[in-house]
Amino acid sequence: METSFDMFIETEVPENELIISRTDLSGIITYINETFAHISGYEPEELIGKPHNVIRHPDMPKSAFDDLWKTIKAGETWRGYVKNLRKDKGYYWVYAEISGVLKDGKLVEYKSIREPMSREKRIEMQNVYDKLRSEEEHSSRVVLYVDNDQLEAIKAFEK
Ligand SMILES: Cc1cc2nc3c(=O)[nH]c(=O)nc-3n(C[C@H](O)[C@H](O)[C@H](O)COP(=O)(O)O)c2cc1C
Repeated sequence: METSFDMFIETEVPENELIISRTDLSGIITYINETFAHISGYEPEELIGKPHNVIRHPDMPKSAFDDLWKTIKAGETWRGYVKNLRKDKGYYWVYAEISGVLKDGKLVEYKSIREPMSREKRIEMQNVYDKLRSEEEHSSRVVLYVDNDQLEAIKAFEK
């Protein structure tokens, strides 16, 4: 039997440098700093105007982002660990703080600042997110693939 595997390279986030981005209220990138560009492997002009999920890594559970949006829409700061996808399909881990920016008391945009994480924390969070994702995918699989006829069949089977 032939076995194949993909290898993805982790990029280390430098100490003493912040990775910064800003978005409009719908999550479209309006600004990234040079460190962000460097770490993600994109040029700023490739990211500005794009939804922030272009760097979403498939290992991230949906619930992390649900929590993020709920928190920032409520006017609070979200703090959490994020695995991001580089342009070359490699990845990098960051501890992120994301919050709203107010102008004259009115919410006008969102900003985020990210820092490096320790190796231990990255391993821990990979396990946490793997577990969350498998739970989420399990339940969504049921929701997605059961049509009415199948649902009737399941109900009949359960009786
Ligand atoms: C200011 C700000 C920064 C964000 N930074 C990231 C990020 O670094 N990585 C990421 O995957 N999502 C980030 N998001 C969340 C994305 O907008 C998006 O919700 C997420 O990638 C999941 O994609 P989805 O909502 O299409 O499922 C950020 C959102 C905001 C408002």
